[in-house]
Amino acid sequence: MADVLGLGITHFPMLAGADTHMANLLKTTLKDPDIPADRKDPRNWSVMAQREWGDDQGTTAAGEHRARLLAGLSRCREALDEFRPDVVVVWGDDQYENFREEVIPSFCVLAYDDTEVEAFAVLEKLRVPNAWGLPTDTSFRMRGLPNFAKQLTADVLTSGVDIAYSYEQRKGVHFPHAFANTQIFFDYENVGREFPYPIVPIAVNCYGEHVIARHGGIAKFADIQAGERLDPPGPSPLRCYELGRAVARSVAAGNKRVALVASSSWSHAFLNDKHWHLRPDSESDRRLYDALVAGDHDTWRKVTTREIIDSGQHEMLNWFCLLGATQELGLELEWSDFVQTEILNSNKVFAVYR
Ligand SMILES: [Fe+2]
Repeated sequence: MADVLGLGITHFPMLAGADTHMANLLKTTLKDPDIPADRKDPRNWSVMAQREWGDDQGTTAAGEHRARLLAGLSRCREALDEFRPDVVVVWGDDQYENFREEVIPSFCVLAYDDTEVEAFAVLEKLRVPNAWGLPTDTSFRMRGLPNFAKQLTADVLTSGVDIAYSYEQRKGVHFPHAFANTQIFFDYENVGREFPYPIVPIAVNCYGEHVIARHGGIAKFADIQAGERLDPPGPSPLRCYELGRAVARSVAAGNKRVALVASSSWSHAFLNDKHWHLRPDSESDRRLYDALVAGDHDTWRKVTTREIIDSGQHEMLNWFCLLGATQELGLELEWSDFVQTEILNSNKVFAVYR
Protein backbone atom coordinates (compact mmCIF):
# COMPACT_ATOMS: atom_id res chain seq x y z
CA MET A 1 0.00 0.00 0.00
CA ALA A 2 1.22 3.51 -0.75
CA ASP A 3 2.60 5.57 2.09
CA VAL A 4 4.28 8.98 2.03
CA LEU A 5 6.85 10.78 4.14
CA GLY A 6 7.67 14.46 3.51
CA LEU A 7 11.10 15.95 4.22
CA GLY A 8 12.76 19.32 3.70
CA ILE A 9 16.55 19.71 3.76
CA THR A 10 19.40 21.82 2.33
CA HIS A 11 21.93 21.06 -0.41
CA PHE A 12 24.25 23.96 0.59
CA PRO A 13 27.45 23.28 -1.42
CA MET A 14 29.71 24.78 1.23
CA LEU A 15 28.62 22.14 3.75
CA ALA A 16 30.70 19.72 1.68
CA GLY A 17 33.67 22.07 2.01
CA ALA A 18 36.01 22.90 4.86
CA ASP A 19 34.98 25.39 7.61
CA THR A 20 37.74 27.78 6.48
CA HIS A 21 35.89 28.22 3.16
CA MET A 22 32.23 28.24 4.26
CA ALA A 23 32.01 32.07 4.12
CA ASN A 24 33.64 32.24 0.67
CA LEU A 25 30.54 33.55 -1.11
CA LEU A 26 30.48 36.57 1.23
CA LYS A 27 34.23 37.02 0.80
CA THR A 28 33.68 37.15 -2.97
CA THR A 29 30.82 39.64 -2.54
CA LEU A 30 33.06 41.89 -0.43
CA LYS A 31 35.37 42.24 -3.43
CA ASP A 32 32.60 43.74 -5.59
CA PRO A 33 33.71 47.36 -6.12
CA ASP A 34 30.17 48.58 -6.84
CA ILE A 35 28.81 47.75 -3.38
CA PRO A 36 29.04 50.83 -1.09
CA ALA A 37 32.07 50.64 1.23
CA ASP A 38 30.05 51.40 4.36
CA ARG A 39 27.78 48.42 3.60
CA LYS A 40 30.79 46.16 3.30
CA ASP A 41 32.32 47.34 6.57
CA PRO A 42 31.64 44.65 9.24
CA ARG A 43 31.35 47.39 11.88
CA ASN A 44 28.05 48.38 10.25
CA TRP A 45 26.64 44.84 10.19
CA SER A 46 24.00 43.37 12.51
CA VAL A 47 25.01 42.03 15.92
CA MET A 48 24.56 38.47 14.64
CA ALA A 49 26.65 39.08 11.52
CA GLN A 50 29.46 40.65 13.54
CA ARG A 51 29.45 37.78 16.00
CA GLU A 52 29.56 35.19 13.19
CA TRP A 53 32.30 37.04 11.30
CA GLY A 54 34.31 37.24 14.56
CA ASP A 55 38.07 37.50 14.30
CA ASP A 56 38.48 34.58 11.88
CA GLN A 57 36.13 35.66 9.06
CA GLY A 58 33.50 33.11 9.93
CA THR A 59 35.53 29.92 10.43
CA THR A 60 34.33 29.36 14.02
CA ALA A 61 30.75 30.22 13.02
CA ALA A 62 31.07 27.70 10.17
CA GLY A 63 31.78 24.92 12.67
CA GLU A 64 28.67 25.87 14.66
CA HIS A 65 26.59 26.12 11.48
CA ARG A 66 27.81 22.70 10.34
CA ALA A 67 26.81 21.16 13.69
CA ARG A 68 23.28 22.57 13.39
CA LEU A 69 22.94 21.40 9.78
CA LEU A 70 24.23 17.91 10.53
CA ALA A 71 21.79 17.63 13.43
CA GLY A 72 18.90 18.54 11.10
CA LEU A 73 20.13 16.15 8.43
CA SER A 74 20.51 13.25 10.82
CA ARG A 75 17.01 13.86 12.17
CA CYS A 76 15.69 13.65 8.60
CA ARG A 77 17.79 10.57 7.84
CA GLU A 78 16.41 8.84 10.94
CA ALA A 79 12.88 9.55 9.73
CA LEU A 80 13.83 8.16 6.33
CA ASP A 81 15.27 4.93 7.76
CA GLU A 82 12.30 4.46 10.06
CA PHE A 83 9.99 4.93 7.06
CA ARG A 84 12.03 2.59 4.77
CA PRO A 85 11.08 4.17 1.42
CA ASP A 86 11.03 2.26 -1.84
CA VAL A 87 12.06 5.48 -3.54
CA VAL A 88 13.03 9.04 -2.66
CA VAL A 89 11.58 11.75 -4.94
CA VAL A 90 13.60 14.97 -4.71
CA TRP A 91 12.58 18.46 -5.87
CA GLY A 92 15.75 20.40 -6.59
CA ASP A 93 16.89 23.32 -8.74
CA ASP A 94 18.99 22.97 -11.85
CA GLN A 95 21.51 25.81 -11.61
CA TYR A 96 22.57 26.09 -15.25
CA GLU A 97 23.78 22.48 -15.13
CA ASN A 98 21.71 19.97 -17.15
CA PHE A 99 19.56 22.73 -18.64
CA ARG A 100 21.09 25.67 -20.49
CA GLU A 101 20.51 27.76 -23.59
CA GLU A 102 19.06 24.82 -25.56
CA VAL A 103 16.07 24.40 -23.24
CA ILE A 104 14.89 25.41 -19.77
CA PRO A 105 11.96 23.24 -18.68
CA SER A 106 9.83 24.50 -15.78
CA PHE A 107 9.75 20.97 -14.37
CA CYS A 108 11.62 17.87 -15.54
CA VAL A 109 11.65 14.33 -14.16
CA LEU A 110 15.09 12.75 -14.48
CA ALA A 111 14.09 9.16 -15.29
CA TYR A 112 17.67 7.89 -15.19
CA ASP A 113 19.16 4.48 -14.62
CA ASP A 114 21.85 4.14 -11.96
CA THR A 115 24.35 6.96 -12.45
CA GLU A 116 27.92 7.44 -11.28
CA VAL A 117 28.07 10.91 -9.73
CA GLU A 118 31.18 13.01 -9.00
CA ALA A 119 30.92 14.08 -5.37
CA PHE A 120 32.97 17.27 -5.44
CA ALA A 121 32.47 18.73 -8.92
CA VAL A 122 30.98 22.02 -7.67
CA LEU A 123 33.59 22.42 -4.93
CA GLU A 124 36.30 21.90 -7.53
CA LYS A 125 34.88 24.73 -9.61
CA LEU A 126 34.82 26.94 -6.52
CA ARG A 127 38.34 25.78 -5.54
CA VAL A 128 37.18 24.68 -2.12
CA PRO A 129 38.75 21.63 -0.39
CA ASN A 130 36.21 18.98 0.64
CA ALA A 131 35.38 18.51 4.30
CA TRP A 132 36.47 14.86 4.32
CA GLY A 133 39.97 15.33 2.84
CA LEU A 134 39.08 12.80 0.12
CA PRO A 135 40.51 12.71 -3.43
CA THR A 136 38.83 15.26 -5.68
CA ASP A 137 37.63 12.55 -8.09
CA THR A 138 35.64 10.69 -5.41
CA SER A 139 32.33 9.44 -6.80
CA PHE A 140 29.27 7.52 -5.68
CA ARG A 141 26.42 5.69 -7.35
CA MET A 142 22.97 7.26 -7.42
CA ARG A 143 20.41 4.52 -7.94
CA GLY A 144 17.56 5.43 -10.25
CA LEU A 145 14.06 4.00 -10.67
CA PRO A 146 13.19 4.84 -14.30
CA ASN A 147 9.94 2.90 -14.55
CA PHE A 148 8.55 4.58 -11.45
CA ALA A 149 9.74 7.93 -12.81
CA LYS A 150 7.93 7.32 -16.11
CA GLN A 151 4.70 6.37 -14.37
CA LEU A 152 4.94 9.45 -12.16
CA THR A 153 5.44 11.63 -15.25
CA ALA A 154 2.48 10.01 -17.00
CA ASP A 155 0.22 10.53 -13.99
CA VAL A 156 1.22 14.17 -13.54
CA LEU A 157 0.64 14.91 -17.25
CA THR A 158 -2.71 13.12 -17.22
CA SER A 159 -3.83 15.13 -14.22
CA GLY A 160 -3.23 18.37 -16.13
CA VAL A 161 0.20 19.61 -15.03
CA ASP A 162 2.77 19.79 -17.83
CA ILE A 163 6.13 18.29 -16.97
CA ALA A 164 9.14 17.36 -19.11
CA TYR A 165 11.16 14.19 -18.72
CA SER A 166 14.73 13.16 -19.48
CA TYR A 167 16.29 9.74 -19.95
CA GLU A 168 19.91 10.84 -20.21
CA GLN A 169 22.09 13.32 -18.44
CA ARG A 170 23.69 16.13 -20.42
CA LYS A 171 27.19 15.10 -21.53
CA GLY A 172 30.27 16.83 -20.21
CA VAL A 173 28.56 18.46 -17.24
CA HIS A 174 28.55 17.42 -13.58
CA PHE A 175 25.38 15.89 -12.17
CA PRO A 176 23.06 18.68 -10.88
CA HIS A 177 24.35 19.41 -7.40
CA ALA A 178 20.94 19.83 -5.78
CA PHE A 179 20.41 16.06 -6.19
CA ALA A 180 24.03 14.95 -5.76
CA ASN A 181 24.33 16.86 -2.49
CA THR A 182 21.00 15.52 -1.27
CA GLN A 183 22.40 11.99 -1.38
CA ILE A 184 25.75 13.10 0.07
CA PHE A 185 24.14 14.98 2.95
CA PHE A 186 21.64 12.22 3.76
CA ASP A 187 24.68 9.93 4.04
CA TYR A 188 27.18 12.51 5.29
CA GLU A 189 29.54 10.08 7.06
CA ASN A 190 29.97 8.06 3.86
CA VAL A 191 29.82 10.95 1.37
CA GLY A 192 26.76 9.36 -0.24
CA ARG A 193 28.44 6.02 -0.94
CA GLU A 194 26.28 3.91 1.39
CA PHE A 195 22.90 5.49 0.67
CA PRO A 196 20.48 2.58 0.26
CA TYR A 197 17.49 4.15 -1.54
CA PRO A 198 16.91 5.00 -5.21
CA ILE A 199 16.37 8.66 -6.03
CA VAL A 200 14.05 10.15 -8.66
CA PRO A 201 14.98 13.83 -9.16
CA ILE A 202 12.46 16.41 -10.32
CA ALA A 203 14.31 19.48 -11.59
CA VAL A 204 12.46 22.75 -10.94
CA ASN A 205 13.42 25.94 -12.80
CA CYS A 206 13.94 27.91 -9.61
CA TYR A 207 16.35 30.44 -11.10
CA GLY A 208 13.80 31.79 -13.58
CA GLU A 209 14.84 35.18 -14.88
CA HIS A 210 18.41 34.63 -13.65
CA VAL A 211 19.03 31.06 -14.85
CA ILE A 212 20.88 32.00 -18.04
CA ALA A 213 21.35 35.72 -17.27
CA ARG A 214 23.47 34.85 -14.21
CA HIS A 215 24.23 31.22 -15.05
CA GLY A 216 22.36 30.32 -11.84
CA GLY A 217 25.07 32.04 -9.81
CA ILE A 218 26.42 35.32 -8.52
CA ALA A 219 26.38 38.57 -10.51
CA LYS A 220 28.42 41.72 -10.08
CA PHE A 221 26.53 44.93 -9.32
CA ALA A 222 28.18 46.67 -12.28
CA ASP A 223 26.46 44.16 -14.57
CA ILE A 224 23.15 44.36 -12.68
CA GLN A 225 23.16 48.16 -12.79
CA ALA A 226 24.09 48.19 -16.49
CA GLY A 227 20.87 46.26 -17.13
CA GLU A 228 20.74 42.49 -17.32
CA ARG A 229 19.25 40.50 -20.18
CA LEU A 230 16.79 38.72 -17.95
CA ASP A 231 15.18 35.42 -18.89
CA PRO A 232 11.45 34.65 -18.62
CA PRO A 233 10.38 33.71 -15.10
CA GLY A 234 10.26 30.18 -13.76
CA PRO A 235 6.99 28.50 -12.74
CA SER A 236 4.95 30.51 -10.23
CA PRO A 237 4.92 29.43 -6.58
CA LEU A 238 1.26 28.45 -6.97
CA ARG A 239 2.08 26.28 -10.00
CA CYS A 240 4.74 24.54 -7.92
CA TYR A 241 2.02 23.85 -5.34
CA GLU A 242 -0.09 22.29 -8.09
CA LEU A 243 2.82 20.12 -9.23
CA GLY A 244 3.34 18.96 -5.65
CA ARG A 245 -0.33 18.07 -5.40
CA ALA A 246 -0.24 16.13 -8.69
CA VAL A 247 2.86 14.20 -7.62
CA ALA A 248 1.17 13.40 -4.29
CA ARG A 249 -1.95 12.07 -6.07
CA SER A 250 0.17 9.85 -8.29
CA VAL A 251 2.08 8.44 -5.35
CA ALA A 252 -1.09 7.89 -3.32
CA ALA A 253 -2.64 5.93 -6.20
CA GLY A 254 0.37 3.59 -6.42
CA ASN A 255 1.70 0.89 -4.14
CA LYS A 256 5.08 2.25 -3.09
CA ARG A 257 6.46 3.83 0.05
CA VAL A 258 7.67 7.21 -1.17
CA ALA A 259 9.67 9.92 0.55
CA LEU A 260 9.05 13.35 -1.00
CA VAL A 261 11.95 15.71 -0.39
CA ALA A 262 12.34 19.46 -0.96
CA SER A 263 16.06 20.10 -1.31
CA SER A 264 17.20 23.70 -0.95
CA SER A 265 18.20 26.48 1.38
CA TRP A 266 15.89 29.47 1.67
CA SER A 267 16.83 33.10 0.91
CA HIS A 268 20.29 33.31 -0.66
CA ALA A 269 22.47 36.37 -0.01
CA PHE A 270 23.96 36.24 -3.50
CA LEU A 271 20.46 36.57 -4.99
CA ASN A 272 19.21 39.19 -2.52
CA ASP A 273 19.97 42.32 -4.57
CA LYS A 274 18.17 44.67 -2.21
CA HIS A 275 20.64 43.89 0.59
CA TRP A 276 23.67 44.14 -1.71
CA HIS A 277 24.20 40.34 -1.64
CA LEU A 278 25.58 40.75 1.89
CA ARG A 279 22.95 38.74 3.74
CA PRO A 280 19.83 36.64 3.15
CA ASP A 281 16.35 38.14 3.55
CA SER A 282 15.78 36.61 6.98
CA GLU A 283 12.63 38.64 7.65
CA SER A 284 10.90 37.11 4.67
CA ASP A 285 12.20 33.62 5.50
CA ARG A 286 10.90 33.95 9.07
CA ARG A 287 7.46 34.99 7.84
CA LEU A 288 7.18 31.88 5.66
CA TYR A 289 8.69 29.65 8.33
CA ASP A 290 6.13 30.84 10.89
CA ALA A 291 3.38 30.06 8.35
CA LEU A 292 4.89 26.62 7.70
CA VAL A 293 4.89 25.84 11.43
CA ALA A 294 1.32 27.08 11.75
CA GLY A 295 0.18 24.95 8.78
CA ASP A 296 -0.93 28.20 7.13
CA HIS A 297 -1.03 27.26 3.44
CA ASP A 298 -2.89 30.46 2.51
CA THR A 299 0.16 32.59 3.26
CA TRP A 300 2.31 30.34 1.08
CA ARG A 301 -0.19 30.16 -1.75
CA LYS A 302 -0.38 33.97 -1.94
CA VAL A 303 3.37 34.42 -2.51
CA THR A 304 4.15 35.86 -5.95
CA THR A 305 7.05 35.24 -8.33
CA ARG A 306 8.14 38.88 -7.81
CA GLU A 307 8.29 38.47 -4.02
CA ILE A 308 10.33 35.27 -4.36
CA ILE A 309 12.89 36.95 -6.63
CA ASP A 310 13.08 40.17 -4.61
CA SER A 311 13.88 38.16 -1.48
CA GLY A 312 16.47 35.93 -3.14
CA GLN A 313 14.22 32.97 -2.30
CA HIS A 314 14.44 31.48 -5.81
CA GLU A 315 15.24 27.97 -4.58
CA MET A 316 12.24 27.90 -2.25
CA LEU A 317 10.11 26.87 -5.24
CA ASN A 318 11.23 23.35 -4.32
CA TRP A 319 9.57 23.83 -0.94
CA PHE A 320 6.36 25.08 -2.59
CA CYS A 321 6.22 21.69 -4.37
CA LEU A 322 6.61 19.87 -1.05
CA LEU A 323 4.00 22.01 0.69
CA GLY A 324 1.55 21.35 -2.14
CA ALA A 325 2.05 17.62 -1.62
CA THR A 326 1.58 17.88 2.15
CA GLN A 327 -1.63 19.85 1.65
CA GLU A 328 -2.98 17.34 -0.87
CA LEU A 329 -2.31 14.39 1.43
CA GLY A 330 -3.06 16.12 4.74
CA LEU A 331 0.42 15.38 6.07
CA GLU A 332 1.22 16.97 9.43
CA LEU A 333 4.46 18.72 10.36
CA GLU A 334 6.12 16.52 12.97
CA TRP A 335 9.34 18.48 13.46
CA SER A 336 11.19 21.42 11.94
CA ASP A 337 14.16 23.69 12.55
CA PHE A 338 15.12 27.13 11.20
CA VAL A 339 18.88 27.67 11.07
CA GLN A 340 19.62 31.35 10.61
CA THR A 341 22.91 32.84 9.47
CA GLU A 342 23.88 36.33 8.36
CA ILE A 343 27.23 35.52 6.77
CA LEU A 344 27.01 31.94 5.44
CA ASN A 345 24.92 32.82 2.40
CA SER A 346 21.56 31.26 3.20
CA ASN A 347 19.16 30.33 5.96
CA LYS A 348 18.40 26.63 6.10
CA VAL A 349 15.22 24.85 7.15
CA PHE A 350 14.62 21.19 7.99
CA ALA A 351 11.20 19.59 8.19
CA VAL A 352 9.62 16.18 8.71
CA TYR A 353 6.00 15.63 7.60
CA ARG A 354 3.98 12.48 8.19
FE1 LIG B 1 20.77 25.21 -5.33
